[in-house]
Amino acid sequence: MTNKYYIKTFGCQMNEYDSEKIGSVLDKKSHLTETSAPEDADLIILNTCSIREKAEVKVFSDLGRFRELKEKKPGLRIAVGGCVASQEGENIIKRAPYVDLVFGPQSLHRVSELLDKREVSGKPQIDITFPEIEKFDHLPIINKNRVSASISIMEGCSKYCSFCVVPFTRGEEISRPLEGILNEIVRLTFNGVSEIILLGQNVNAYRGVMDNGDIADFSLLLEYVAEIKEIKRIRFTTNHPNEMTDSLIDCFRSIDKLAKTIHLPIQSGSDRILSAMKRNYTALEYKSIIRKIRKVCPEISLTSDFIIGFPNETDKEFESTIKIMKDLEFDYSFSFLYSPRPGTPASYLQDNIPNKIKQQRLEELQKLNVSQGKKYTELMKGTNQRVLFDHYSKKNKGVLLGKTDNNRIVEASSDSGLLNKFVNVKVAKTDTKNLQVESLIS
Ligand code: SAH
Ligand code: F3S
Repeated sequence: MTNKYYIKTFGCQMNEYDSEKIGSVLDKKSHLTETSAPEDADLIILNTCSIREKAEVKVFSDLGRFRELKEKKPGLRIAVGGCVASQEGENIIKRAPYVDLVFGPQSLHRVSELLDKREVSGKPQIDITFPEIEKFDHLPIINKNRVSASISIMEGCSKYCSFCVVPFTRGEEISRPLEGILNEIVRLTFNGVSEIILLGQNVNAYRGVMDNGDIADFSLLLEYVAEIKEIKRIRFTTNHPNEMTDSLIDCFRSIDKLAKTIHLPIQSGSDRILSAMKRNYTALEYKSIIRKIRKVCPEISLTSDFIIGFPNETDKEFESTIKIMKDLEFDYSFSFLYSPRPGTPASYLQDNIPNKIKQQRLEELQKLNVSQGKKYTELMKGTNQRVLFDHYSKKNKGVLLGKTDNNRIVEASSDSGLLNKFVNVKVAKTDTKNLQVESLIS
């Protein structure tokens, strides 16, 4: 049987987290070790993303490459996990019959069993079921030494935005029980973790059952996580504007450990488009949420997602998007060209904005976005910032790198003794790619 696996991850932080978990299952149950060279591997796994068409196309081109490896080494096993697996299921085997395993994001804990079944039966194995939250009960803990770790607190999404595949590929929203999350975080701290990133499609929709049978909401979860002494900074992503409760907003005031940043996807500044996207808020409602957040935490760094070229988006509607970006002064944002996804309600609308116009709009938005981000960076000169230094620069020997609350990269000298430490620094220079430290405050 096999003894080395190679895994390639596409897409979001949730997939990164899932890939680590797939690795830990293969290590514990199948006694495989990871390799970074696909040609050395006996098992190749693609943990895939289907959020936009481009990501999906890449998977099939990679598969073609790995097929050649398999022709040279027939014992090689190829597995497709993640959202493309979930969406395409059997079709993957039809299109690429040399694939041995297909498993979805909710059945990744069964990867070793599937591998065994493949050996016994000699046939490809498919498991893309959504067995509730079972996966978390069956996942080994990862014993890696590091300071910053992600943890998934919920799975799936029940918002069904008209353009989005996530509810279909990852299933409906389901939260992990509170104690399970806290236990995992505490165990991570034993290995040196002091920054935790809570992950979910809409973390602010978290409703986790507690040992006493009550339901904890996201703000309560944050309070509990903040109680863990070894945890020094908490981040979370992503949020949906409709679940920004007052108690969650207040956490930015009451929980010092919370990084002062929030990612709150808006998608568009036009009410007609927002309604066609089924986002269930208006531009004005979104603005009023931001006003509330900024009242509680004026220095918050606000980041967002935008979709450009949704069906029938007019010039005027696009201008509303530009306007809201200007008005709200986002720190930085991610903007995507609309990509029709099979099976979503929006895919029945004609994708009728010409590519050239989509591109022009994207460029205009991104230009504004970059200039706004730069402005915030410049404002950081001379300020005090909390930084976690967690890795050495690969390019520049002698340079240690860390991140501020608002995800700016900060440089320090590698002999500063600051590795894996949270420190308050004064920012000297902001005109280079990374911020430079002037002095250590504490
Ligand atoms: N749960 C998050 C986002 C998950 S997907 C939310 O609240 O919106 C990450 C981002 O991908 C989305 O915010 C959206 O901007 C983008 N996206 C999703 N589907 C897309 C599609 N069909 N075409 C283009 N971009 C898309
Ligand atoms: Fe997708 Fe909307 Fe959920 S963008 S992940 S359906 S909130």
